Amino acid sequence: MSVRLRVWRRAVGCAQLGVRPLNQDQPTTTVLATQDWLDHFEHNRQHPMPVPWDDGAQMSEVECQAIAGSIAEFQLGESSEGKNLIHYAKRYAQRSGDTDYARVMGLFIAEENRHARELGRLMDIEGIPRKQNTFVDAVFRNLRRLAGLELSISVLVTAEIIAQVYYQALRGATGSTVLRAVCDQILKDEDEHVRFQCERLAILRSRRSRFTLWHRGCLHRVLMFGAIGVVWLNHRSALRRGGFGWRRFWNETWRFTDAALKIANPRRYVWDNLAAADDLAV
Ligand SMILES: [Fe+2]
Ligand SMILES: [Fe+2]
Repeated sequence: MSVRLRVWRRAVGCAQLGVRPLNQDQPTTTVLATQDWLDHFEHNRQHPMPVPWDDGAQMSEVECQAIAGSIAEFQLGESSEGKNLIHYAKRYAQRSGDTDYARVMGLFIAEENRHARELGRLMDIEGIPRKQNTFVDAVFRNLRRLAGLELSISVLVTAEIIAQVYYQALRGATGSTVLRAVCDQILKDEDEHVRFQCERLAILRSRRSRFTLWHRGCLHRVLMFGAIGVVWLNHRSALRRGGFGWRRFWNETWRFTDAALKIANPRRYVWDNLAAADDLAV
């Protein structure tokens, strides 16, 4: 079975132009089909935004000190192979008949790994050492292993929302034109990642009761609350350097969370011939 769509052409057309397909605040009745996400990730892979690598090292010592540990931790987070996610995606694809879903998840992980490569290349240029493991990265990886596709995606979305705010701060934290260009690409990608993952949550939850949806929303906010605290404690020097004090970081993160939870709300869409979570038990 597959998800049937109505006005998706407009969204794909916009994605090919490299702009956000739909305003996330606008009410909509559709989610993008798996094939459209396949097209989106393929297009994005083949048309990266330019990065002025030849500009070389440009960060001052103060800028480097403020962001070095932080960027190294995010670089590590972006480099995950996503084995568990791929495993759950394959199982879901088999049970639902949405056969391309695992491929799309593979392309999504490849895009995250491109973020890791570009951040790593920038770190090498600036002489910032890489990290092999960190406590926060281990927590996120273990949480994603816990159980099933839905919970894995929920944890992932938490990290994506943090990324939407963090890379804005990192972009403004230094005078490096290379870092700015890398952050511009990542920010553009992360907006689509949130939409991709949240729409899948909506599909998985399409037949859930109001109480279950309310419970999932609460769970997500608890996860977000914890993530905000941990990220602030570990990355506040980079965030502050980029103009994000505690209040701004808090407000922006919840603004993105509200937008993401709207996309993940199945009641926002009209469903047609849908394979829902109750049938799939993934
Ligand atoms: Fe990323
Ligand atoms: Fe992402």
